[in-house]
Amino acid sequence: MAIDEIVSELHENGIYKFQTPFIRTEEIKRLRPITREVLKKSKDEYLFGDAARIGRYESWNPSPIYDILSKPLIHSIAAKFYNSPPSFNEIFLTHEYKNDAGMERNGFLHFDRIPTLKFFFYLSDCNRKNGAFHYVPGSYKIGTQLRTAALARTDEYGKIQNRLEIDYPDLGITKKNAVPLEGPVGTMFIFHTDLFHYGGTVSDDSEREIMRLHFRDI
Ligand SMILES: [Fe+2]
Repeated sequence: MAIDEIVSELHENGIYKFQTPFIRTEEIKRLRPITREVLKKSKDEYLFGDAARIGRYESWNPSPIYDILSKPLIHSIAAKFYNSPPSFNEIFLTHEYKNDAGMERNGFLHFDRIPTLKFFFYLSDCNRKNGAFHYVPGSYKIGTQLRTAALARTDEYGKIQNRLEIDYPDLGITKKNAVPLEGPVGTMFIFHTDLFHYGGTVSDDSEREIMRLHFRDI
């Protein structure tokens, strides 16, 4: 699909999934030893397993991470979405394998408190049982309204109300309204965080690994 169509889909629905795995098998083979090593060393607290923030994609040049995240298609979409190249980007890695340490914030149905365009890569096969990203179709524009209103009420980050079932029970929107975005290793999709979403909740003896590239215009 042409970049214009992808971006207009993002502006309309807040999500776009590429139909074929975006990362080739050989790229995954080069990438995973590095992401695993980084996650093993990370000290970030994450109730669902391991997580790491690893800086701007440019800082990984040269590496298999950079080879994937520097693809012109990604940056053309981000620039078109924001009408100019976004000033902020950062890579996040997670490996989820715990479900007995408590509920992490991304496990609740929510919109992000800081609006962000996220490129999401499955580094393992992901399905509804092992933590696939879930989202509520058609929620993007309501999410933008709620997030704008929530930020107008307070600028204290911890007080910004962004969890649907806790902060907006009257709307009656719950995880039951969400659908899983299932896909094989190498899957890439893009979503804007005003879309109601959650992820990372794995069932017993299952796991998932993901990489994300976040963009913001700040
Ligand atoms: Fe989120």
